[in-house]
Amino acid sequence: MCGIVGFVGKQQTAPILLDGLSKLEYRGYDSAGIAVFNDKIEIVKTKGKLQGLRDLTADGTNISGSLGIGHTRWATHGEPTVTNAHPHTNKEVNIAVVHNGIIENYQILREKMIGRGYEFVSETDTEVIAHMLDYYYEGDPIKAIIKIMHRVKGSYAFGIIFESHPGELYAVRKDSPLVVGTSEDANYIASDAPAILKYTRDVYFINNFEIAKLTEKCCEFFNEDGELIEKELSRIEWDMEAAEKGGYEHFMLKEIYEQPKVLSDTISPRIVNGCITLDELELGSDLLKKINRLYIIGCGSAYHVGVAAKYMIEELTDIPVEVDLASEFRYRNPKMDKNSLAIIISQSGETADSLAALRDIKGRDIPVLAIVNVVGSSIAREATSVFYTWAGPEISVATTKAYSAQLVSCYLLGIQLAFVRGCIDINEYQSLIVDLQKLPEAIKEILGNKERIQWFASKYAAAKDMFFIGRGIDYAVSMEGSLKLKEISYIHSEAYAAGELKHGSISLIEDGTLCVAVATQPSIYDKTISNVVEVKSRGGYIFVVTNKEHIDIEDTADFVVYVPVCNPLFAASLSVIPLQLFGYYVAVAKGCDVDKPRNLAKSVTVE
Ligand code: AGP
Repeated sequence: MCGIVGFVGKQQTAPILLDGLSKLEYRGYDSAGIAVFNDKIEIVKTKGKLQGLRDLTADGTNISGSLGIGHTRWATHGEPTVTNAHPHTNKEVNIAVVHNGIIENYQILREKMIGRGYEFVSETDTEVIAHMLDYYYEGDPIKAIIKIMHRVKGSYAFGIIFESHPGELYAVRKDSPLVVGTSEDANYIASDAPAILKYTRDVYFINNFEIAKLTEKCCEFFNEDGELIEKELSRIEWDMEAAEKGGYEHFMLKEIYEQPKVLSDTISPRIVNGCITLDELELGSDLLKKINRLYIIGCGSAYHVGVAAKYMIEELTDIPVEVDLASEFRYRNPKMDKNSLAIIISQSGETADSLAALRDIKGRDIPVLAIVNVVGSSIAREATSVFYTWAGPEISVATTKAYSAQLVSCYLLGIQLAFVRGCIDINEYQSLIVDLQKLPEAIKEILGNKERIQWFASKYAAAKDMFFIGRGIDYAVSMEGSLKLKEISYIHSEAYAAGELKHGSISLIEDGTLCVAVATQPSIYDKTISNVVEVKSRGGYIFVVTNKEHIDIEDTADFVVYVPVCNPLFAASLSVIPLQLFGYYVAVAKGCDVDKPRNLAKSVTVE
């Protein structure tokens, strides 16, 4: 996912652009560049990290001007090179553009522009925008932007400057995130708020096809007909410390340790006088009463939340729950029951597959509830209703606190569904709520014993393969544990429904193969342990995550981590913690770039 920053104001823009881009590095990138306007547009680009830009511009001091745009590129079309780095310009270098997203019809547009005599220097989709702006510009940037808007297919957030319009910064978006920041003597654009929080926390969230025109003193917004529109000013409440490491070695560890607070922040405001209140969702108990089916859709860890939620909600209610990977859902032809509710789970709220699934479902007149962490994100704005997780900015690419916040959001929803539908009585309802409120303290207890996990993990830095197994909710946690390990340590691992291992993959078990078993569900604990014994008898080395009711496991397992006893329906919130720590410490032992793993970005805004 690329990063965009733009500035127009009194101060020199280059240092501000560089600072803003540094706050977006976590999104993953492979090249960077800035365009600054003084008497003319000056472009500086680099392959690799931002330091290259700092070196070329003497930390922004050798390039002057108080209007500019900056970009960190996560390559989608064309290799990471200086030529392909943004900003891109027209031939005369009097129009410069930065872009986050994908222009799906850029080949056609490129051919058309070549036919009009334009020459291309890069392999990117973005460059076509610079030439189209040149072609359609007849003195009014808004009109030129509107013309390209209607010709471009795909997703975009553009930051644009025109030499003929000094002191004016333009931006427009469709499906890619963009925020406008405003202060007394300057205005900003950014892909994400951390880039500008140092300067302002007063922001406008612009919607698809809305154009922003910023000057030093003014923010104007136009719709796709070129009409001036009013926008509501929002205020970002969390501060930069929340987006800094806070003394931890990595954002990931900080965010693992933030989980008790995050769970409290997500749960507590929704418990009033001992009852769950979900009024913010405006779904109404009538809808909750009449739905016949739930569809839960997400990618990666968000999908794993859906799998755990399925078991929990089907246990508590009379509602069948379907869980889909968003990338699969959008291309199968699901026969959806009209009386359904779809839940899209997405930390970033910008995942392309999940956004596409949302639109497909809304096209069927089925309400979509989004469980999202990023305020004002595309999924949040397009959903019928939004359940915000209040995890704060999650900087590490590997999700932990947002995953946990999504889990408890599903618990709240599941309990409320069960109660309004008469599946549980008031006593069970209140008992479940009390159990839910115990989770933050239980997580703190697990985190207090991290040393054993750190010691055990350090022995597996050289491992080549690992298995994660479990049944039911434990299986969902196994998936998450496996993903955490492989995405940050690059060690191959598989998550298997414990009962499925014997149907083929157990042939992979050799002497010393590590198998991590999650066994917290009382009704199927013995079944899982029999699968553990199958693995052990073939030479596997067994690491079990269970609770203190199963001390007998010491006779079977080689290494055990106990989590506090809790309501089994909510056990995923506890058993995932040792697996997050395990994956983290294995990656640290391997010297991996834990917060910015190779090939990954924090939000996958392309297919
Ligand atoms: C999780 O650690 C991964 N980074 C990835 O699987 C992520 O969960 C997935 O891309 C979905 O992202 P989202 O929640 O922002 O939609």
